[in-house]
Amino acid sequence: MADSFSLNDAVSGSGNPNPQGWPAAWGNQPAGPGGYPGAAYPGTYPGQAPPATYPGQAPPGAYPGAPGAYPGPTAPGAYPGQPSGPGTYPPGQPSAPGAYPAAGPFGTPAGPLTVPYDLPFPGGVMPRMLITILGTVKPNANRIALDFKRGNDVAFHFNPRFNEDNKRVIVCNTKQDNVWGKEERQSVFPFESGKPFKIQVLAEADHFKVAVNDAHLLQYNHRMKNLNEINKLGISGDIDLTSATHAMI
Ligand code: GAL
Repeated sequence: MADSFSLNDAVSGSGNPNPQGWPAAWGNQPAGPGGYPGAAYPGTYPGQAPPATYPGQAPPGAYPGAPGAYPGPTAPGAYPGQPSGPGTYPPGQPSAPGAYPAAGPFGTPAGPLTVPYDLPFPGGVMPRMLITILGTVKPNANRIALDFKRGNDVAFHFNPRFNEDNKRVIVCNTKQDNVWGKEERQSVFPFESGKPFKIQVLAEADHFKVAVNDAHLLQYNHRMKNLNEINKLGISGDIDLTSATHAMI
């Protein structure tokens, strides 16, 4: 089924980092200051600024993404990643007891987050949901993993490996009933030990799209179709995690 962004995209192993544009409203656009949604990266990213001065990052406690021109949320209080349901916790709440970070004025976690980290999706995943993860790869990193979980199953495992037989590769897969499926491998590898990164995952009807540092990287066709049952994102591996948020665009 064709969608407006077509499926002849970077499938695993294509080696092409961006054979098609992302939705014009937010992907691969000229990234002027504030022009990138969500985190307002300047066009010079990745600029290897130290984490404390992460490019475009709002100061701790500030409105996330400010002053970026995030196109999605418009309702008051509906800033990126804020859960909509009353009484829900802010996104990015650490799962570990006692690990709840200091909150900014909008309830946004301020300061580094504890890894491994669970980002809950109170209403599950749905098309046009954008998940944004900011962090810095640790020196001499070995792995990073994002796991979109449906209970004990993993609908989408995104796993950059920094040294698999002396090669760098991104492995994507699905785990059902404790059994991994067929791996989809991507040799384009945009992560660097010691450097800051931004990962954006956009859920669409047929696939997840992943962009790193403003460039489309790959897409992963849904094997588990019940997106609304994907209830959290696990973030693990050799990173310092700055923020993890979700928003509708
Ligand atoms: C396994 C690895 C898992 C996961 C899986 C993906 O070898 O232990 O963590 O990455 O590959 O296929």
